Amino acid sequence: MFTFSDFLYVIDQQLIHNRNKSLFYEIANGRLILSPSKETVELLVRRIDEVSAFIQLAAKEDTYQHLLSYAADKTLNLFTEVNQYLNFNDTHKRKLEKIYQDFFERICTIATHGEITKEIDQLFDLHYRNLQSFLLESNGSEIFKKYKESPNIIYVECAEYSPSFQLGLFGIDLLTIEEPVLDLGCGVHASLVQFLRKKGIEAYGMDRSVSSNRYTYRMNWLESTFCPKTWGTVISHMAFSNHFTHHHIKADGDYERYARKYMEILYSLKIGGSFYYAPGLPFIEKVLSSNHESFVIQVNEHATKVIRVSE
Ligand SMILES: C[S@@+](CC[C@H](N)C(=O)[O-])C[C@H]1O[C@@H](n2cnc3c(N)ncnc32)[C@H](O)[C@@H]1O
Repeated sequence: MFTFSDFLYVIDQQLIHNRNKSLFYEIANGRLILSPSKETVELLVRRIDEVSAFIQLAAKEDTYQHLLSYAADKTLNLFTEVNQYLNFNDTHKRKLEKIYQDFFERICTIATHGEITKEIDQLFDLHYRNLQSFLLESNGSEIFKKYKESPNIIYVECAEYSPSFQLGLFGIDLLTIEEPVLDLGCGVHASLVQFLRKKGIEAYGMDRSVSSNRYTYRMNWLESTFCPKTWGTVISHMAFSNHFTHHHIKADGDYERYARKYMEILYSLKIGGSFYYAPGLPFIEKVLSSNHESFVIQVNEHATKVIRVSE
């Protein structure tokens, strides 16, 4: 019998199969380079009735939502691992779940009326085209231009740096650091947060990829609210300002949303608190220093510190 864990396994191995291929690259006759794996083809050809029966049964139960959510989460993680500048919110996730739901339903329709060997290419091609539309609708077309040119995935590096490197770069003195501290885009390992807490400093981390625990929050900074006068220090190394710069440069970038979030973060500082970030944001720092007396900006070659000095 085809089981729930069999289904999860098929999703995983199918994503691994296409892992390094570009979803936007077309080979001869406009065909996409992505394909079903040998195992998936064999499974569908030999056991489509079982797969279809499983889907129809799951669709009547809560497990179906779990299945759709699993497929969507895995796919979104893969997308953001490939390119850290891609951004997705809960609405996008629901749209992706619907794409998987339609895909699974088409498998059931083929099982009843069709011939899988003849329809399998079309089944997957349609699914991949739906994923393309999903990406273009959620993130604009500019970011995907380069993915049309190469069959292999172009990875955008998303490294994590040691606490001592980050503290040194920002010139942060642990004896005078204002608490509480928020590390915005703290990375999967939240190593700076762990380091600060071991030193007895009240520190928290936020990142869309970190696991949530008592002091780390798995959250998207664009979807989060930064409450006024909350933080003594906000640190964001190669994270928020890097993404803000990306949106500032990109032709269809969402720079206004980033500018509003930047101001919200600044107002989430207590009076006397500081926001340290790298890279710097000269295009907004210029505006800030001429229009806002509440903030003092200190810029060096690699990093910026903005201090909130008044209301
Ligand atoms: C280059 S890493 C830097 C990590 C850490 N600050 C360091 O220097 O080691 C950038 C981090 O930003 C996170 N990130 C990117 N976009 C995000 C978003 N919209 N909301 C929350 N975190 C995000 C990524 O998950 C990644 O962990």
